[in-house]
Amino acid sequence: MVKSFLFLFIFLVLSKTVISARSKSSKSQPKPCKNFVLYYHDIMFGVDDVQNATSAAVTNPPGLGNFKFGKLVIFDDPITTDKNYQSEPVARAQGFYFYDMKNDYNAWFAYTLVFNSTQHKGTLNIMGADLMMEKSRDLSVVGGTGDFFMSRGIVTFETDTFEGAKYFRVKMNIKLYECY
Ligand SMILES: *[C@@H]1O[C@H](CO)[C@@H](O)[C@H](O)[C@H]1NC(C)=O
Ligand SMILES: *[C@@H]1O[C@H](CO)[C@@H](O)[C@H](O)[C@H]1NC(C)=O
Repeated sequence: MVKSFLFLFIFLVLSKTVISARSKSSKSQPKPCKNFVLYYHDIMFGVDDVQNATSAAVTNPPGLGNFKFGKLVIFDDPITTDKNYQSEPVARAQGFYFYDMKNDYNAWFAYTLVFNSTQHKGTLNIMGADLMMEKSRDLSVVGGTGDFFMSRGIVTFETDTFEGAKYFRVKMNIKLYECY
């Protein structure tokens, strides 16, 4: 009895080693089945810029720390293929982000890229932590519809520019690893 337990134990340890060795060797990332770059423009609503603004804070920071902790912003932002926010948008980004770190700027995003053009119709749903002080951050593409039916992948964010709290632009490198 003891002997067979010992054998089972050794077997488990060995198989675990084999599994972890295998997962290490296949660490190199697969190639995306679709890869494209889009720019996200966020123009924060002030008081007199209804025409221009594309996002608005719906809560004010409650005062926990100095990094806007708790501030929630809802947006309907234009998505373009170049850096000009006035270029013809290829999609809209509709969703929200909120600041969720006490000691630094850090946000959490959840939004849908809504494509409604002759080239693309459908949606991509994106969510994840935006660790704003990192040069590049990965968020998840958790699903899609239409031309992006059942898509999944990664969006790499890079802050391209910002004008204080008024405007920021993010380069989104969208890499899909599941395409149908
Ligand atoms: C998509 O575009 C068509 C044609 O411009 C328009 O009629 C329709 O309302 C749009 N749909 C959405 C959800 O924006
Ligand atoms: C719209 O917002 C952008 C970004 O903040 C700014 O550069 C531009 O001057 C604004 N345009 C108008 C008409 O207010």
